Amino acid sequence: MKSFLNVSDLGRLDVALAEAMEIKRERFKYVDLGRNRTALLVFFNNSLRTRLSTQKAALNLGMNVIVLDVNAGAWKLETERGVIMDGDKSEHLLEAIPVMASYCDVIGIRSFAGLKDREYDYAETVYNQFVKYSGKPVFAMETATVHPLQAFADLITIEEHKTKVRPKVVLTWAPHPKALPQAVPNSFAEWMNAADVDFVITHPKGYELDAVFAGDARVEYDQMKAFEGADFVYAKNWSCPGVTLPERYGEILEDYHKMADWTVSERQMRVTDNGKFMHCLPVRRNMIVTDEVIEGANSLVIPEAANREISATVVLKRILESL
Ligand code: CP
Repeated sequence: MKSFLNVSDLGRLDVALAEAMEIKRERFKYVDLGRNRTALLVFFNNSLRTRLSTQKAALNLGMNVIVLDVNAGAWKLETERGVIMDGDKSEHLLEAIPVMASYCDVIGIRSFAGLKDREYDYAETVYNQFVKYSGKPVFAMETATVHPLQAFADLITIEEHKTKVRPKVVLTWAPHPKALPQAVPNSFAEWMNAADVDFVITHPKGYELDAVFAGDARVEYDQMKAFEGADFVYAKNWSCPGVTLPERYGEILEDYHKMADWTVSERQMRVTDNGKFMHCLPVRRNMIVTDEVIEGANSLVIPEAANREISATVVLKRILESL
């Protein structure tokens, strides 16, 4: 595997899930695979889980790891070609990428959407420059439009906790005070569409996800109706994807104070089928979800985060096998 951005990069999901379970049983089974190989993890944005779990995954495979925080200690990087660099950015990505690539075998990229220019974000401009100019396998650690390591960990978590062959999984929008990218809901939708689940998306009008990710998933604008009989509820905020309202791309459509009904609470969870609560974290309590739900017996947020180590180990293993 030379690139990891979409669910199709992983091939058959049942095979990938079996591999994940094998690694969970025997975390260091492939520790010799990464000997004398180096993973470079490049962060343009903050992280807790991705940073730690991906480093741990690389260590599980016997790799060396270098972490670069672009905005803390490195030269500020220009990402667009043709810009006269008379501002605060001292180096261009087009030189920085091949230099970084010369020190490693595999590159992970975290680079969020700017939420100003939909075309630029949805073209995955930064990620694709790494693919084009590094000559090394590149994997997404949350890019402008996707977060596949998270979605794979979410799928592993659902597989571990499901009590039905084909569970009902609901992705629900929830309020947030800041405009957030669509990467997590995009990937979650993409991966749930590829998995054997009954998948429903619920959000206020205007937050429709791009069809590339939402596919044929059922969209239910009535959140309570969507939650009925759900086995898993996956909460996340996202800003306007600009599908039905192109002029409002990246914006919050309605002040969050007016959207408090969408916060996941016992009220909605009561109509589920003993539904499990999921969120990728970090989460703002009593905005996205109440204290009671996230602390309740059906909350999976901690095992879900722990599975990030497993999803990253499978992905890095696949990449190492392709070198
Ligand atoms: N879920 C997730 O990617 O967490 P971080 O932003 O902390 O890495």
